[in-house]
Amino acid sequence: MTERRRFEGRSVIVTGAGSGIGEAAAHAFAEEGALVTIAELDAGKGEAVRDAILAKGGKARFVPTDATIEESVKAMIEAASAAHGPVRHAFNNVGAAKPGSLEDLSLADWDWTIRISLTSTFLAMKHEIPVMKANGGGTIVNTASMSGRIFTPSAPPSYSAAKAGVIHLSQFASCAHAKDNIRVNSVLPGLTATPQIAGMFTLEQQADVAAEHQVIHRCVQPWEIAATVLFLSSDDAAMITGRGIEVAGGGAHGG
Ligand SMILES: NC(=O)c1ccc[n+]([C@@H]2O[C@H](COP(=O)([O-])OP(=O)(O)OC[C@H]3O[C@@H](n4cnc5c(N)ncnc54)[C@H](O)[C@@H]3O)[C@@H](O)[C@H]2O)c1
Repeated sequence: MTERRRFEGRSVIVTGAGSGIGEAAAHAFAEEGALVTIAELDAGKGEAVRDAILAKGGKARFVPTDATIEESVKAMIEAASAAHGPVRHAFNNVGAAKPGSLEDLSLADWDWTIRISLTSTFLAMKHEIPVMKANGGGTIVNTASMSGRIFTPSAPPSYSAAKAGVIHLSQFASCAHAKDNIRVNSVLPGLTATPQIAGMFTLEQQADVAAEHQVIHRCVQPWEIAATVLFLSSDDAAMITGRGIEVAGGGAHGG
């Protein structure tokens, strides 16, 4: 357990907390004293992360959530606030992609990727901001991607466009809600060693992609993204808002 307790007793939401980056962030928040709401579609994964946090002495609840459905997101935020107190910190992390080039991507796959990667971010912020506003403020970190900032040949155009949207929507929200004491940032992972990536690339391909795009030639580890999310959510980052922070081993060759 870390010595720092920056989120002691605070109500924190993590979406997509059943695996990968979200799972790492849920553990990290809990280790710093947060009351974590695991907002996850897959009940088996959500319950497993909750149980692992409880077993370490942390505090967490699993709330079954589909981050792409407004009623589900609204109900999750209400449940989190009822159980843990008004939500103070949110990590809106759900995102995914279906493959396809500009020429062969179907409209259905384009829509699916935009909905899960960008619309989910809108829905979460739409319902988190009023709770934070009514309770003196808060912080939001949204998961974008390096693919939303630079051309990444391995990423489909729908995903790149959605993640560019996440970066901009975060900046928009930061400007619109600074007056409400709400800070909003996005985190831009490079290729990160999670189950999602394991399903898309072999280990050899992962190493090739990391070497091609990054100054540091290895995949990012989920805990390395989580550490930045916690920093951005904490009072240590009180003067950082509207930024898209890369955690990508010097992605785009440091440029
Ligand atoms: N892994 C990478 O290399 C990488 C790089 C850049 C950005 N990202 C982004 O990081 C985020 C997390 O990715 P990851 O690699 O940890 O993925 P992951 O697949 O390991 O975890 C995603 C989790 O989200 C859950 N989920 C999926 N759809 C959901 C929904 N509709 N509602 C609620 N939960 C849902 C899944 O069940 C899973 O537990 C995504 O936004 C992804 O686009 C990942």
